[in-house]
Amino acid sequence: MWSTVLLYIGVILITFRVVKTLRMSLRSKLPPGPTGIPIIGNLFQLPTSRPWLVFDEWMKQYGPIIYLNIAGQNTIVLGTHKAAADLLDRRANIYSDRPDLVVLNLLTGGMHWAWTQADESWKKKRREAHEALNAQAAKEYFPYQETESVIMLDQLLAHPEIFTDHFQRASTSLTLTIVYGWPPLLDSAHPNAVHIDQMDHELLVAAAPGSFWVEFKYFRWMKYLPRWMCAWRRNAEDAFSRNSVMLEGLSADVQKQMDAGDNITCVASKILQNTGNLFEASWNSISIYTAGAETTSGQLAWFMQAMILYPEAQLLAQDELDRVVGSERLPTFDDYEHLPYIRATVKEILRWRGVSPLGIPHRLSEDDYYEGYFLPKDTTCFVNVWSLHHDTQVYGDDAEHFNPKRFLDANGNLQSSIVDTKDEGHYSYGFGKRICVGRYIANNSLFIHIAFLLWAFNIKAKVDADGNPILPDSLQFNEGLIVRPAPFSCNITPRKMDASEIIAQAKADRGL
Ligand code: HEM
Ligand SMILES: *[C@@H]1O[C@H](CO)[C@@H](O)[C@H](O)[C@H]1NC(C)=O
Ligand SMILES: *[C@@H]1O[C@H](CO)[C@@H](O)[C@H](O)[C@H]1NC(C)=O
Repeated sequence: MWSTVLLYIGVILITFRVVKTLRMSLRSKLPPGPTGIPIIGNLFQLPTSRPWLVFDEWMKQYGPIIYLNIAGQNTIVLGTHKAAADLLDRRANIYSDRPDLVVLNLLTGGMHWAWTQADESWKKKRREAHEALNAQAAKEYFPYQETESVIMLDQLLAHPEIFTDHFQRASTSLTLTIVYGWPPLLDSAHPNAVHIDQMDHELLVAAAPGSFWVEFKYFRWMKYLPRWMCAWRRNAEDAFSRNSVMLEGLSADVQKQMDAGDNITCVASKILQNTGNLFEASWNSISIYTAGAETTSGQLAWFMQAMILYPEAQLLAQDELDRVVGSERLPTFDDYEHLPYIRATVKEILRWRGVSPLGIPHRLSEDDYYEGYFLPKDTTCFVNVWSLHHDTQVYGDDAEHFNPKRFLDANGNLQSSIVDTKDEGHYSYGFGKRICVGRYIANNSLFIHIAFLLWAFNIKAKVDADGNPILPDSLQFNEGLIVRPAPFSCNITPRKMDASEIIAQAKADRGL
């Protein structure tokens, strides 16, 4: 009898050991990466600036999947389109959650759905957003996008040196129109716009990896520290209350107009109808706003830099505009089909210098295996989109350079055969179920702004006292979750004598 018991215990113990050893050997098959130190892992090896360039170097040593232990947080960085698409696209059912960001969730009360888990509630909000922002719905915003382009040209004529301010105003204004039905904002100093942009900025800081210690697994206990002990908690909780009041105000205004029987068709009104709860509806609406405002303007700043550095591309685009649009009128969305070079320029700017070179992180929700490696549940997954976009195997030897022609065939027609990009030719709109829901609107804004800018202006480098061009360095970045070029100047001059008359007429036609 005792011997049987002992035998059982023995078997159980051995099974335990075997399972444990198996698990250990599986664990040892984590993907390769730089060797860290105990506990802290690779924390202090993480690059403090331009991480996408450093990860790109590491990839040559470790291969397409780099594993990092960041103070206890399993993290992978995927460096090829195959690895990224195999996991985030083709296994989207388990790669679509987001990392759990403590400070961001305090700031938003866990209500910002671009940062929540891919659960049923997220699915509903995302479907709601898709209904308002899909390819077909996006066409309803054409007139607003043209209007923003007119205002942008007008302001550039007056104050060309602060060009990035005009881009920021245009994307803030468009997003407010789409989401809240506001008329165009002529001045970005509007108090509500300033408050929302301030909030957006806090969110972007909180979402940028490594901003707060509490985000690291071994420092998670800080989450339980009381308010009086931590400034980050006080700041975030206070911001949440303040922001909720403002956001409820914005949605309440929309509700008032609906109650008064006004025919308003903005996204916030649709969300209010579906949700029936002011607090929830107001956060669902602002989630769309904050995801849409910074990105487009940052992308346009990169466009200006490309025009300075690649004047031949600028000339080709202007030739096309002169042929198709001429100098008597402004471009419109009706020209879309006839402007393949401009459309290729949109693709190329998103490829050459996309505003999120490391994408937005996803989280793996179950243990997984890939190419013989073990990927544990809860791993944070980054895609080094920079590496994908500069892969010479995919884009050829000139991948470093800005060249819209790579997206055109011999007859100048758009062709996109870049694998795993869903016909985009680039990966800047993200992956799987989390792919940018505003990408049709973003695409259209970039198209019309770029067409207007090149129709009206020559964009050139400033020259120094000796007449030499002052060229910006396109590898200097203004870092954050949205990556812009380091500040640079350029010379923006009208291409035609009567540009200002045509623009003034366009303003008058729109009652501005
Ligand atoms: C050039 C402009 C833009 C770029 C480059 C861009 C890029 C991205 C990226 C990379 C993501 C994350 C994808 C992922 O997790 O794999 C994303 C998500 C998102 N974008 Fe955009 N975006 C742009 C403009 C917009 C606009 C104009 C809107 C709305 C009007 C918008 C709304 C959203 C939303 C709501 C999400 C969150 C989706 C989710 O988590 O399910 N974006 N975008
Ligand atoms: C509301 O506006 C939309 C487009 O602006 C229009 O198609 C629709 O007929 C209007 N409905 C009413 C009841 O006025
Ligand atoms: C963006 O524009 C390009 C060029 O016109 C097109 O190939 C692509 O499908 C568009 N993508 C979206 C999401 O509208």
